[in-house]
Amino acid sequence: MNHDLASLRTHARRLQSTPLAKLIESDPARASELAMAHGPLYFNFARQTYDRQALEALIELARQREVGRAMQRLFDGEPVNVTEGRAALHTALRGDHSSAQVARDAHATAAATRARMAQLIDGLASTDVTDIVSVGIGGSDLGPRLVADALRDPLPGRFRVHFLSNVDGAAAQRTLAGLDPARTAVVLVSKTFSTQETLLNGEILRQWLGSSDRIHAVSANPGRAAAAFDIAPERVLPMWDWVGGRYSLWSAVGLPIALALGMDRFEGLLAGAAQFDQHALQAPVEGNIAVRHALTAVWNRNALGHATQGVMVYDQRLALLPAYLQQLVMESLGKTALLDGGTVTEDSVPVWWGGAGTDVQHSFFQALHQGTGIVPLDLVGTIRNDDPYAQNHLALMSNLLAQAQALANGQHSDDPHRAYAGGRPSTMILLDALTPQSLGALIAMYEHSVYVQSVLWGINAFDQYGVELGKQLASGLMPALQGQEQAADPVTRALVERLNARRPS
Ligand code: F6P
Repeated sequence: MNHDLASLRTHARRLQSTPLAKLIESDPARASELAMAHGPLYFNFARQTYDRQALEALIELARQREVGRAMQRLFDGEPVNVTEGRAALHTALRGDHSSAQVARDAHATAAATRARMAQLIDGLASTDVTDIVSVGIGGSDLGPRLVADALRDPLPGRFRVHFLSNVDGAAAQRTLAGLDPARTAVVLVSKTFSTQETLLNGEILRQWLGSSDRIHAVSANPGRAAAAFDIAPERVLPMWDWVGGRYSLWSAVGLPIALALGMDRFEGLLAGAAQFDQHALQAPVEGNIAVRHALTAVWNRNALGHATQGVMVYDQRLALLPAYLQQLVMESLGKTALLDGGTVTEDSVPVWWGGAGTDVQHSFFQALHQGTGIVPLDLVGTIRNDDPYAQNHLALMSNLLAQAQALANGQHSDDPHRAYAGGRPSTMILLDALTPQSLGALIAMYEHSVYVQSVLWGINAFDQYGVELGKQLASGLMPALQGQEQAADPVTRALVERLNARRPS
């Protein structure tokens, strides 16, 4: 039988009248048999709404789409980014799992760059610098910001690292307030070095510092970085075309991570990711966590038609994970063009969103329990806490377990206002502890799941042409906002007139 995406709906229809609680009641072994673990990561898919027959169809789909071969092509540095004719070799930044020469070369280049990162950090540590401002946006910000925040100790280490991304001047003003230019160094992170936000904020920082002496850059366009900000070559670290921005935290883009946490923990992060990479590359489709996670996403999107996907973290230290995943998943999979230029006939990415539990339970969980739309969730928790408040951790875990159960099983009531329909799916993701290794593995899992989803949907996970139009229009509108010309679009023109008329001159 040909298991295409549309045929998954046959299974969804077959299961339509079977409540999720019934699925589990009639097959109690799925509680443990639909769980998968690797290293510090544990995933339980028992509360997804597929039964074993539907799951077999999903796995068959992965086989037919040759997901294993696609994974090998990724690791071997083949041009999986077909629209830009490039490899996507983020796995080579952290491990040596491929014998392809291009991947081995990339791995060696990345290691040499890490040696330069370590030297640079040692150099800065021997100065009076106390604060680092990392300037970058999107992939040059969200990953480093997430990791530095998730793994930081309660008190800052050698450096306090601040992140500045938004072009809104209020962000720069607030970041710099309280910092001493004589004790602050700057890292400008931009793959292209043509990003408006980073160039403008970089210029603010240069003027604030009074010179470029303590400005560093990370870029795949090092010449431009050095020239634009007059940065000495020894303070410019490379990245490469073969790493996508949102997959780049493992490269020198992770310099702010290493400055915040130390090089050892940065290496630990890479080691954790590399360990998961091996699993993603070698485990067969039926036992592969990234593949299962991707198939679950496809089930929820294409078989059931769920338009959004939530990620709720029951670990405050992971509070930035939803924002990071929004870029990783939605910039990668927000496509309507197939690899061959055709148009997708099935939906691709849902809207990803989320927040940190238990806070979210007191804001929007009402809608998740009783709203008309169903939002499949990834629920992420950490088994061991590192704070001294054991009772709070038990409370956090009890809430995590309770929410998953309530969403799945619901509760009958004759009073419709008090009834919980249940049938709301979730995947439980547990980390043994939050360490560089486990976080590296978790992020790598999401990267691989995204790639597998792109293979299943036949789209390119590594370009982002959809963000270009807005960028072009924005820079084209600068003269209109400066009163030098009129905007061409009539609605934009009216809005520019309003802005210009009411802005203090
Ligand atoms: O928003 C588009 C984008 O190109 C992202 O893909 C990228 O991570 C971000 O802008 C920043 O780009 P750069 O690192 O080139 O400044």
